Amino acid sequence: MQNGILPFNYNHMSYKSLDTSPRILLGPGPSDMHPRVYKALSTHMIGHLDPEFVDIMDEVKQMVQATFQTQNKLSFVVSAPGSAGMETCLVNLIEPGDEVVICQHGVFGGRMADIADRAGATVHKVVQEWGKPVDPAAVKKVLENCNPKLVAIVHAETSTGVRQPLEEIGQMVRDKGSLFVVDAVTSYCGIDLRVDDWGIDAIYTGTQKCLSAPPGLSPVSFSDRAVEVLDARKTKVQSWFLDLSLVKNYWAGAKRAYHHTAPISQIFALREAYRLVLEEGLEARFQRHQETHEHLRDGLQDLGFTYLVDEAYRLPMLNAVYLPDGVEELPLRKQLLHEYNIEVGGGLGDFAGKLWRIGLMGHSCDKNHVNMLLSALKEIM
Ligand SMILES: Cc1ncc(COP(=O)(O)O)c(C=O)c1O
Repeated sequence: MQNGILPFNYNHMSYKSLDTSPRILLGPGPSDMHPRVYKALSTHMIGHLDPEFVDIMDEVKQMVQATFQTQNKLSFVVSAPGSAGMETCLVNLIEPGDEVVICQHGVFGGRMADIADRAGATVHKVVQEWGKPVDPAAVKKVLENCNPKLVAIVHAETSTGVRQPLEEIGQMVRDKGSLFVVDAVTSYCGIDLRVDDWGIDAIYTGTQKCLSAPPGLSPVSFSDRAVEVLDARKTKVQSWFLDLSLVKNYWAGAKRAYHHTAPISQIFALREAYRLVLEEGLEARFQRHQETHEHLRDGLQDLGFTYLVDEAYRLPMLNAVYLPDGVEELPLRKQLLHEYNIEVGGGLGDFAGKLWRIGLMGHSCDKNHVNMLLSALKEIM
């Protein structure tokens, strides 16, 4: 039937009910979700200021603290994806004219530098060749020649598969009297990450990687030192939505004040994903990621794949690998997706078209999934 309001021939039958393919997600995120997380997503809706939901937010805050291994009081969840967590940490701590140091060894360090620049900071970059961790000596050199309010770095560079050691750089940053800001989007709940022990002042992550919750939320945490800097601001935070002086009364105020309407169903699912992490235990979860990674590594090496990153700095949850000589990456990746329902990631930024990024994250990080991928590759190749 013709619809006079819509600008095209609208036929409601053309929108079929949703029926996504049963993919196995072995890319750089999102990862597969546990059935309990799907079930939690469909929990009966309640209001976001309902006392029951306020209790749930309190529980989720405790779970954020437990998984970041921190006592930070300002620990909560930004109602937007990891990039918004990144922006939250940077725009709240930076005021126009501040000096900052951004370490860049892949795509996401570059994004941090862009945000800091837009917030009016003078950005000093420590640039490292992609595929290697940032060298503490290079950070030291830059710190000798500036007086930064903060130093920011990515713990797990998803574009390269590099695990960045944080302790030595964190100590230098503290000695300099600057704040230490860390991107833990990919490392969170997959490798060890100690916010308090490593002196991290502001940290953000995402929910769609090793936590295996729906995408679109960003747990963050600020140390008391960072909160003091926030409280001493002379200028307004450039973003209304991400301004922590407003948001914190929603997540942490004695009397909850309306700020925005929380993504209630996603928080239900997040809470269930956290319950799964805490039931498994952080140590056991890290161990599972490492063992599954080693199983994948052995199988891939037998097939002629080679790793971009030296063994000492490899992330278990993000395997950046070159394909065997003569094998084209895109047709093979498409065949895996369409014929075997297995998603792996292509290269990002400088590595687009050059390598694969195979993710082993959270609920996706399973030896059976690895076996499926390896047998599919054997069959095709
Ligand atoms: C290291 C890192 N930082 C930030 C982000 C941005 O997260 P989101 O895509 O959830 O905005 C990602 C996403 O993959 C990431 O891997």
